[in-house]
Amino acid sequence: MNESASCRLIVLLPLLLALVLGGCRGQTDAPPLEGATMGGAFTLTDQNGRRVSDTDFAGRYRIVYFGFASCPDVCPVDLQTIGAGLRAFESQDPERAARVQPVFISVDPARDTPDVLREYVRNFHPRLIGLTGSAETLAEVARRYAVYYRIGEPANPADPNSYLVDHARMAVLYGPRGEPVAIIPHDQGPEGVAQELDRWVR
Ligand code: NI
Repeated sequence: MNESASCRLIVLLPLLLALVLGGCRGQTDAPPLEGATMGGAFTLTDQNGRRVSDTDFAGRYRIVYFGFASCPDVCPVDLQTIGAGLRAFESQDPERAARVQPVFISVDPARDTPDVLREYVRNFHPRLIGLTGSAETLAEVARRYAVYYRIGEPANPADPNSYLVDHARMAVLYGPRGEPVAIIPHDQGPEGVAQELDRWVR
């Protein structure tokens, strides 16, 4: 390498380094859902019959997923993946993982009583909270959290409980002030979930 080539390299190196570091910072600084208008206040009933508000989670991250306990396949698969991903993050970094609260909010007010949710949430993660409420309240919370759902007609007309609930399959990470942070990619398996938590949870 001649002198002018090495000079150019010396000039270029800090520039390259700045670009690389800037790129990395850009990636961690701006959460994909930053500024999105979703989330907000709620008061619901948990699986133990206690009233729970969004402010009870102040200072903690929350993974929020809407679904229903008698969902035949979608909810159990997604909740298994989210639970396993959170457990993986717990074994990597117990301190940060302790700041993540997983929350399941029902879109089936008629069937998802606290008792039903208590039996349900324990299948997926020991700290998973199940929340339910009146039809009106759940509709309002789902609207605020930008989650679509629609309660179907009974498959068997003789059994009014034989309906399904069509619902969005979306898990969202909210931050310590309840602000939306990122979609939790449960379609990428527990590793994808753990990676996304590792990226955003401080
Ligand atoms: Ni479901």
